[in-house]
Amino acid sequence: MNDTKYRVAIIGCGRMGQNYAEAYTTYPDTEIVAIVDANTQRQNVLGARFGVDALYSDVDALLRDIVPDIAVVVTPTKYMKDAVIACAEAGVKGISTEKPIAARLEDADAMVDACAERDVVFAGGNLQRAMNEVQETASRLHNGEFGDIRGASVHGFGGEISGGGCQHISVLRLFTNTEVEEIVAYGSPPEALNAETDEGLIINGSFRLTNGLVCSVFGTPTPCRGVDVWTDECLVRWDWNPPEIFRGYDKQGNRIRLEPNYNPYPWSEFSYLTGSIRSFLAAVDRNGHPWITGADLRQALEVAIAAKLSATRNSVPVKLPLEDRSLALYPRPYRWLGGDATGKPQSIEEAK
Ligand SMILES: NC(=O)c1ccc[n+]([C@@H]2O[C@H](COP(=O)([O-])OP(=O)(O)OC[C@H]3O[C@@H](n4cnc5c(N)ncnc54)[C@H](O)[C@@H]3O)[C@@H](O)[C@H]2O)c1
Repeated sequence: MNDTKYRVAIIGCGRMGQNYAEAYTTYPDTEIVAIVDANTQRQNVLGARFGVDALYSDVDALLRDIVPDIAVVVTPTKYMKDAVIACAEAGVKGISTEKPIAARLEDADAMVDACAERDVVFAGGNLQRAMNEVQETASRLHNGEFGDIRGASVHGFGGEISGGGCQHISVLRLFTNTEVEEIVAYGSPPEALNAETDEGLIINGSFRLTNGLVCSVFGTPTPCRGVDVWTDECLVRWDWNPPEIFRGYDKQGNRIRLEPNYNPYPWSEFSYLTGSIRSFLAAVDRNGHPWITGADLRQALEVAIAAKLSATRNSVPVKLPLEDRSLALYPRPYRWLGGDATGKPQSIEEAK
């Protein structure tokens, strides 16, 4: 670590934003210099809770006074684009966002491009892909420790294919080191297929990957709820925890689980957001890539949109990247608009 103390602004400090604020208050090399939140009552309570005097109701007001080194955008999804682009244009060095990144593909493109054009590090927030054990497993897969990759499958890709499904897509892409290039999908129930949101939509089908593998997609949980990748020798399973690795079978035909012996991660004592935040700060330090990027979230949104498109068109194969960037898939209202607008506000007592 160098001597830099990053000046951080939390933009959108509701339930999730407060988890970030907790983490950024704890790290020795970060300091929260401003909080932006549209809810003025909550804003004041959070200023007192995190010891921050610079409180703002919108991003433009923040940027007129302070250009932080790091902007942590945790507003409801609808407001992320404007916040991300304003921060990138103002000269913020690193911006993180949350899932899902957008509803409309062109909005996700605009954010990714605005950051890329200015060499701003654009991180994707708190995703399983950014767990150190998931990253370590991916490195071991890529190093060939388990043999060549022979197959992959996605399990439980339903209910929220954009809002939650981005977890699956991000791990699948990481483990296989590929992109999804074609999707054939079947969807249910019909009312979810006809809706604008991803709420309740179950998608089954297959993803063709750029390495030629065809990955089966199960909309509901099987024995797994995540991503399986199998190689010549092993099954690697991410099931919302540090990945499990199996090699061979015992006499009863059960897979034998290996002890993964994950390396200790120096920041683990701080917060469950550690991999996301520390890899982001390391990327800002060294002009590298965080373990989950805004571009990863954009890819996940694109896969979700393409899957729904195929399912609504009698399972025609849909190729990626999608040409029509105006296509959209809205997350459920809580994610899109936040708790205050959808009847689930965080009380002032809770925010304290
Ligand atoms: N990665 C995860 O594990 C995870 C978990 C929960 C939520 N999320 C995502 O985080 C985002 C926020 O969710 P939440 O649970 O914190 O919601 P929330 O409603 O509790 O908080 C949102 C906060 O943003 C503020 N806000 C709204 N519009 C704003 C604007 N234009 N500028 C500044 N502040 C604004 C609200 O006043 C509120 O305090 C959503 O996109 C959600 O999908 C991710």
